[in-house]
Amino acid sequence: MSAPTPVLEVRGVSKSFGAVRALDNASLQVFPGQIVALIGDNGAGKSTLINCMTGVFPPDSGEILFDGQPVHLHSPQDARNLGIETVYQDLAVAPHLDSAANIYLGREAMKPGILGKLGFLDNKFMMEETAGELKRLRVRIPDPRRRVFTLSGGQRQSVAVARSVKWASKVVIMDEPTAALGVAQSQMVLDLMREVRNSGIPVIYVSHNMPHVFEVADRIMVLRLGTVVTELDPKTDTIDQAVGWMTGSTTMSSSAGNEAA
Ligand SMILES: Nc1ncnc2c1ncn2[C@@H]1O[C@H](COP(=O)(O)OP(=O)(O)OP(=O)(O)O)[C@@H](O)[C@H]1O
Ligand SMILES: [Mg+2]
Repeated sequence: MSAPTPVLEVRGVSKSFGAVRALDNASLQVFPGQIVALIGDNGAGKSTLINCMTGVFPPDSGEILFDGQPVHLHSPQDARNLGIETVYQDLAVAPHLDSAANIYLGREAMKPGILGKLGFLDNKFMMEETAGELKRLRVRIPDPRRRVFTLSGGQRQSVAVARSVKWASKVVIMDEPTAALGVAQSQMVLDLMREVRNSGIPVIYVSHNMPHVFEVADRIMVLRLGTVVTELDPKTDTIDQAVGWMTGSTTMSSSAGNEAA
């Protein structure tokens, strides 16, 4: 039996910003029906890896494969067209639009115009759908008609999560989706991730919250200084081990027990 093809794969990707080598030969495979956590210290390269995977900017070298085929993503829209939805760490939402407009951004529902052409935005439809979607996802925001900049940080983040879950058909990527969320809302996002995973769509989950990572992930990839240094199993490995790899106190040679004294 052959191994399943990864839905998304990063092969030996490097990316520098001036003298800073943000990614150094990083590799990652994402299989259907898995939550893959990506962890690492501040500046380890997590967001840069997400940005390379989602067309924000191209890698300097290395390959991105989608369903086993190399892809060249020139914009986040290219990634969305493939069914990859991302909650970015910053710029998660357009602050001056309401929740419905954010959820339908770039995919606005149109009503046909009088002569069947041109048409105009079907705001009523989008608002009703959004209210239903938010309710289904148990996202509580005061009113989907309110412009998003009047919502709290956590509520804004919830809108971004709802949008990604609504549209993703192949992969959901979440960069710190619970960073601004309280306990109940964080649990809601973790539940959503499990729901997405159980529907067969893999989730890439970037977080500094180790209890959350160990609670929800199927696999944990540790990024350090731009390289994926190890993969941990949340069922058998521990948070202490993860921290050791993230900080560099554990390395390939030390974990093999043959480091020089
Ligand atoms: N657009 C950019 N221009 C210049 N340097 C950048 C840019 N984006 C990232 N970097 C640098 O690349 C390195 C990796 O940053 P990145 O944002 O990927 O880290 P991260 O793992 O997401 O960290 P955090 O946990 O703080 O979000 C850092 O040294 C950062 O300063
Ligand atoms: Mg980041």
